[in-house]
Amino acid sequence: MSGLKIGNSLGKPVDRVDGRLKVTGGAKYAAEYPLKNLAYGVLLQSTVSKGRIKKIDTQEAERVPGVVTIMTYLNAPKIPAKPASDFNNALHLLQDNVIYHDRQNIGVVVADTFEAASEAASLVKITYDRKAPTVHIESELSKAFAPGGEHSQQTKRGDVDNAWKKAAVKVEHTYKTPAEIHSPMEPHATTAVWDGDELTVYESTQAIFATRDNLAKAFGLPPSKVRVITHFIGGGFGTKLTTWSATILTAAVAKKIGRPVKLALARSQTFGPTGHRPVTIQAVKLGAGADGKLVALSHECISETCSYSDFIEHASGISTRLYSCPNVSTNQKIVRVDVGMPTWMRAPGEAPGSFALESAMDELAYALKMDPIQLRLVNYANKDEHDNLPWSSNSLKECYKQGAAKFGWQKRNPQPRSMRKGDLLVGWGMATATHPTFRMKASAKVKLLPDGTALVQSGTQDIGTGTYTVMTQVAADALALPLTKVKFELGDTLLPESPLSGGSMTAAAVGSAVSLACLDVVKKIVKIAVADKSSPLHGHKENDIQASNQGLCLRADPKIAESYVEIMKRHGSLPVEATASSASDANAEKYSKHSFGAHFAEVQVDPDLGTVRVTRFLSAVGAGRILNSKTAGSQIKGGIIYGIGMALTEEILRDGASGRVMNADLGEYHLPVHADTPDINVIFVDEHDSVINPIGAKGIGEIAMIGIAPAIANAVYHATGKRIRELPITLDKLL
Ligand code: MOS
Repeated sequence: MSGLKIGNSLGKPVDRVDGRLKVTGGAKYAAEYPLKNLAYGVLLQSTVSKGRIKKIDTQEAERVPGVVTIMTYLNAPKIPAKPASDFNNALHLLQDNVIYHDRQNIGVVVADTFEAASEAASLVKITYDRKAPTVHIESELSKAFAPGGEHSQQTKRGDVDNAWKKAAVKVEHTYKTPAEIHSPMEPHATTAVWDGDELTVYESTQAIFATRDNLAKAFGLPPSKVRVITHFIGGGFGTKLTTWSATILTAAVAKKIGRPVKLALARSQTFGPTGHRPVTIQAVKLGAGADGKLVALSHECISETCSYSDFIEHASGISTRLYSCPNVSTNQKIVRVDVGMPTWMRAPGEAPGSFALESAMDELAYALKMDPIQLRLVNYANKDEHDNLPWSSNSLKECYKQGAAKFGWQKRNPQPRSMRKGDLLVGWGMATATHPTFRMKASAKVKLLPDGTALVQSGTQDIGTGTYTVMTQVAADALALPLTKVKFELGDTLLPESPLSGGSMTAAAVGSAVSLACLDVVKKIVKIAVADKSSPLHGHKENDIQASNQGLCLRADPKIAESYVEIMKRHGSLPVEATASSASDANAEKYSKHSFGAHFAEVQVDPDLGTVRVTRFLSAVGAGRILNSKTAGSQIKGGIIYGIGMALTEEILRDGASGRVMNADLGEYHLPVHADTPDINVIFVDEHDSVINPIGAKGIGEIAMIGIAPAIANAVYHATGKRIRELPITLDKLL
C-alpha cells in the first residue's frame, strides 16, 4: 500500500506481506520441501466402520517396483501408553487391529515415488470381521450422558421451571445441525526427517509447539529433540489444532526406514481421522413477558462423539450470557456413535449454538409480533450475567444500529412471503453473534539491526489470516519503521513460544508480545542515545524521547532526532534486541471479554424449486481495534461464506448400514463457490477497549461465522413462511 506514513500502518488496508510469495509459488507448504532421498507415504484406511482387521495381504503390493515398506499393526513400532493422557486412546497408531470408524488409519505404504506408493496401497488386500456400526445419534438419544456426571455440564441461574410456567409468550423447539468437515484447501500433510535421535517435522498445523510435544511424547524424546516447522498453512479452521495419527505415523515410518518421508492426505482421507464438527440436537425454550423481556431460557444440547473419546460441542454456552434473563439453564450431553473423533471447527460451540438460539429468538419475535432487532434490544445484557462481570467493551447496540441502517432494515415488511422479486420470494433475516476473547501467553523477539531494519520472531502460525502482515505492522509502527524494513518470522519451534492459532487469539496474543518487545528495544536504544555525547539526544530524559521516522526524536521537539543507523554505528554496529512475553493480566480478569456482531441476510427463494440463494449479506462487528482493515475484512467475508455453507449445503452424509461417509470429496460435500457468494458488506464498529490487552484487539476469526446460519434461516422463514430447524436448508426441506 502506497502513501502510508511511517508508524501509522495499523488499521490500514495493508496488502499481505507474503502475498507475492503465495501467488508465485515461493511459499513452501508442509509437503513441498525437496529433501534428499525423500520417500513418499500413502495412508491405508479402513473401508469398514466397526470391527477388526482379520487379514492383511501385502504380497502383491510389495512387488510394485520402488516400494520400501508397508507398515501396519503387524509390524509397527510400539508407541508407549501414557496413562496420564488419552493420547493413545484418541489416536489410532497401529497398535492393534480394532476398527472404530470409517477411514481409520490402518497402515502406511512407503515407496520411492508417490505413484508407486499409491499403486501399492491400492493392491493391499484387507479383510475384516465386520460389526454393524451405529452412526446416527437419533436412535441413541436415550443413552445420552454428561461426561463427569449428570449435572457436570449444567449451568443454572434463577428458577427456569417456575418462570417458564408463568411466561406470557413461549417458544419451544428442537434444532438440529449436521456433521461438517473443515475442508481447508490444503489437506493435512507431514514431512518427517530424522537425524540420529533428533526429529524435524514440516507440518501443516495450527499448533507447532503442541505438535512438537506430542511427537516428543510418542517417541519418548525430550521436546528439545523435536523441531516443528510450519511456514505456511493452507487453512485450518480447527482441524489442524490437534496432532492426528498420520503425523506420528509418518515420523514412525521415517524412523523405521531411515529416510525422510512425506505424507499428504487425499481429500477423501480427511473424512474420518482428522476430526469433524459433530451433529447436534438442541432443545431451546424461550419464555418472555408481553413486553418481550426474557423471563426463562433453557438450552440443552446433545452432540455426537466417537466410541473412544468424549468430545463435547458446547453449543449451549452462547445462551448463558448473550441476553439478559434472570432464569437460565443450559446443559450438554453426548452420545457415542461409530465415527471418527469430532473436534473443534471454526467457532466450535457458538456456530451451531447460535443457530438454535438465534432461530428461537426469531420465532419469539414473530410470536410477540415484535421486530427481531427490537426484541434483542429489549434483552440487551448490560453486563455478563453468567459470570457477573462488566463487559470490557460491548458495541452490540451500535452493531444493530449501523448494520440495520446500512442494510435498509426499516424497509422490511415483517409479514412472511410479503416481498418478491419477479417470481422469487425475497426474505430478510438477522441474528446476533458473540465470541469470547481468549488470551494465552505469547512471546516474541525483536532485533533492531545495524542497517536499520528489524527482525521480529515468534513461534506462532499464519493460518491464512494474515499473521505475517499484521505482526509486521505492529512492529513497524512500534519501531517507527516502514513495513519494508521489518521482517517477521514465524512457524518454527526454535522461535519464542506462542500459543496455538485457534480461538481467534493470535493477533491479540502475539501482537501484544511483539508490541512489548518493540517497546523494550526502543527503551534500550534510547538509553544508548542519551548516554552518548555525540548524539543530539544526549543528556535528555529517557521518557521525553520516542521512536520516530526510523530513529528517535524528542517528543516536544521532533527536529532533535537521530536515526537508528547513526546511533548503532557509533556503538560497534551491534544489534539491539529484546524478548518479551505477554499474558492475560489480573485487571483484565475483572471483566468479561467478548466480541459482538449483528448479521443481516437477504435470500431469494424459488417457490417452485425450493432453491435458496443468498443475494446480500451485511455484518457489523465490534471486535476492538482492527489491526488491518483489509485482512480483517477478508476474515469476516470468509466466515460469512463458511456460514453460507453451514446454512445451505454442508453436511457429512453417512450410510446407516455401512457407516461409511457417502460424500467424502468436494464434489459431493458442497462448499459455497464464487457463484454462491453474494455481495458482502462488512462494517467494523469503532471500538476502543483499554483493558483487553496492550493492543486492544479482540480477535475476529470466529465471530465471523457465528450467527450466519440463523440469519439466513431467519431470512428463509421471512421469504417462505417455512421455519427450517434442521441444517442445511436444502431444497427438499422447502418443498
Ligand atoms: Mo479454531 S476451531 O479455534 O481453529
